[in-house]
Amino acid sequence: MTELLRPRAIGRDLARRDGVAKVRGTATYAFETPVEAPAYAHPVQATVARGRVTAMDTAAAEALEGVLLVLTPFDAERLASTEDREYAVLQSDEVAFRGQVIGVVVAESSERARQAADTIRVTYAEREHDSTLSVDRSDLYTPEKVNPSYETDTAEGDVAAAVAAADVVVEQTYSTAMYHNNPLEPHASTALWEPGADVPLTLWDSTQGVHPARAAVAKVFGLDEEQVRVVCPYVGGGFGSKGTPHANVMLAVMAARALPGRPVRLALTRQQMFVLAGYRTPTIQRMQVAAGRDGRLSAIAIDVVEQTSKIKEFAEQTGIPTRMMYASPSRRTTHRLAALDVPVPSWMRAPGECPGMFGPEVALDELAEALGMDPVELRVRNEPEVDPETGKPWSSRHLVECLREGADRFGWRDRPPPRHRDGDWLVGTGVASSVYPTMRQATSTSLIRFEAGRYVVEIGAADLGTGTWTTLPQIAADALDVPVEDVEVRIGDTRYPIASVAGGSSGMNTWGSAVVEAARTFRDTFGRNPGDGDEAQNGVDQAATDDDHAAYAFGAQFVEARVHADTGELRVPRMLGVFAAGRIINPRTARSQFIGAMTMGLSMALHEHSVWDTRIGQVANHDLAEYHIAVNADVGDVQAHWLDEHDPHVNAMGTKGIGEIGIVGTAAAVVNAVYRATGIRVRALPVTLDKLLAALP
Ligand code: MOS
Repeated sequence: MTELLRPRAIGRDLARRDGVAKVRGTATYAFETPVEAPAYAHPVQATVARGRVTAMDTAAAEALEGVLLVLTPFDAERLASTEDREYAVLQSDEVAFRGQVIGVVVAESSERARQAADTIRVTYAEREHDSTLSVDRSDLYTPEKVNPSYETDTAEGDVAAAVAAADVVVEQTYSTAMYHNNPLEPHASTALWEPGADVPLTLWDSTQGVHPARAAVAKVFGLDEEQVRVVCPYVGGGFGSKGTPHANVMLAVMAARALPGRPVRLALTRQQMFVLAGYRTPTIQRMQVAAGRDGRLSAIAIDVVEQTSKIKEFAEQTGIPTRMMYASPSRRTTHRLAALDVPVPSWMRAPGECPGMFGPEVALDELAEALGMDPVELRVRNEPEVDPETGKPWSSRHLVECLREGADRFGWRDRPPPRHRDGDWLVGTGVASSVYPTMRQATSTSLIRFEAGRYVVEIGAADLGTGTWTTLPQIAADALDVPVEDVEVRIGDTRYPIASVAGGSSGMNTWGSAVVEAARTFRDTFGRNPGDGDEAQNGVDQAATDDDHAAYAFGAQFVEARVHADTGELRVPRMLGVFAAGRIINPRTARSQFIGAMTMGLSMALHEHSVWDTRIGQVANHDLAEYHIAVNADVGDVQAHWLDEHDPHVNAMGTKGIGEIGIVGTAAAVVNAVYRATGIRVRALPVTLDKLLAALP
């Protein structure tokens, strides 16, 4: 049990410290870092989905004026580590998916690099590829773990027997599509190799973690971490795709190493991001839920089939939330993977929980319907006393309060009857729960120095638009017991003490805890009247995390859907979420994260779908003209509220992490609202016109 920080700066609605620089365009992003005489790199990509590169004719490219360098698998440097095959760029002539990097051109301008890359003639020994995900594949396999290290399969009780004996059963298959992160700022780097310097490699990279990026790069190139500096003050969105480096980062560094002294810039094009920046695997979820007439679950089971790449396993932990969400004496969760000739899947906002709450939360709606029970009440009735999976007490769990408060605020009790008609529009409302685990990442350290009357806090943390520049000073101010204006924070550089990745909604939990420890040490050492230059450092590690409690944030989301009775046009005029996510550091930046994630959930419900062309093995709609993302016109009234939750078990701030929970459950709430409006149950996302039009009443 931790003593919570006394909030003074925490909880204040402070404006973003980086806001002015961003609005004025003076905030520098990785690609625009001011450097002397930058050169520009453009990747060459495979145009077959599987096979070998037998030859590359680079003569025309090399002859173009302004071309500085062409690298291919036949002449690129040999990397120190090729263990991670996503990072093993240009190490082999093998092609494992269409669009894989098979070369790079560096030139005096980005246009010239691109033009030169286009002139390179490649011959292949092409082989048949196989990139079709299905539940019938004979080669589905059981991964050893699912991300990051959860049991692959779990079972408790006898689901089959419970299903056979139950009053009401729902057995259905649900599916989520392939999704791409598409942050506004593409994946981009500027790399500078200066042999002989103390720190020979400097990498300005758009990343969710400068220290993790440094570790990955150092390993691949066989450098000591001290020989690499990674810098990233600002990120134009990441959502997980910048949580680990991708091949583009290694390619930029490799190009820079071949041109000592020349900074090399490499930004992926939007189309390249649909191949090289990771994506969320499509999932197929076979659900079974069984209950008595009283609505109490006797069984809940999810059997997940999803994909990974042949060169690198990524096992999305889709079944995880089914293990802990509701009280059911029998439970089963399984994961099976198909390893396909496809790009490498990766992290995307609430990996696991986001797709993994779609099937269960729609299945519960179907169960409520079968029982003739209010879907809010059905969830309340299945509230578990302790974590069903581990038997641990909750650090705090206020799902029921979120459902109740959300219902009140939304006007749930007065919801229109099924298939209610308002003029030409069918109107319905839906609900779903949200959940996200409260994590702390491995190691983070912070340094605090008294400098010219102010407290300077240094830590290699990231702000990918989430608000770290603003919220970390609030934590430091309360930990030091000084006004927030007296605190300056420096983040986004490996010159500062080591910080964990901005991932798993754990950034503030981890870095904030490190800052609190550093503040304690500072005060213990120097008291309340420090001298100029006094400094102290301290931090946290994973081992310090409370392991006696099951720690999660919870939420409830309510949606109103309107479907045009003749055209099937779907509008979502109202979304409302209530979250119990621990203490909120800054309501302004927090609200932005909640409604941003809910909007991303709406986007997943209505539009997002990377359409996989199995014939050629690539995403057919690989640009923002055809991969649709919710825009302002799609969003009506979006509200995020939160409970004043005090959780003494999670960390010194009482924070649970808020970056991801807002996308969890949203798509299910939309589907449930559409069902109420139309009587059409869409079990495969997204809810597009074709799925509604033919079945409209
Ligand atoms: Mo998030 S997908 O854990 O960066």
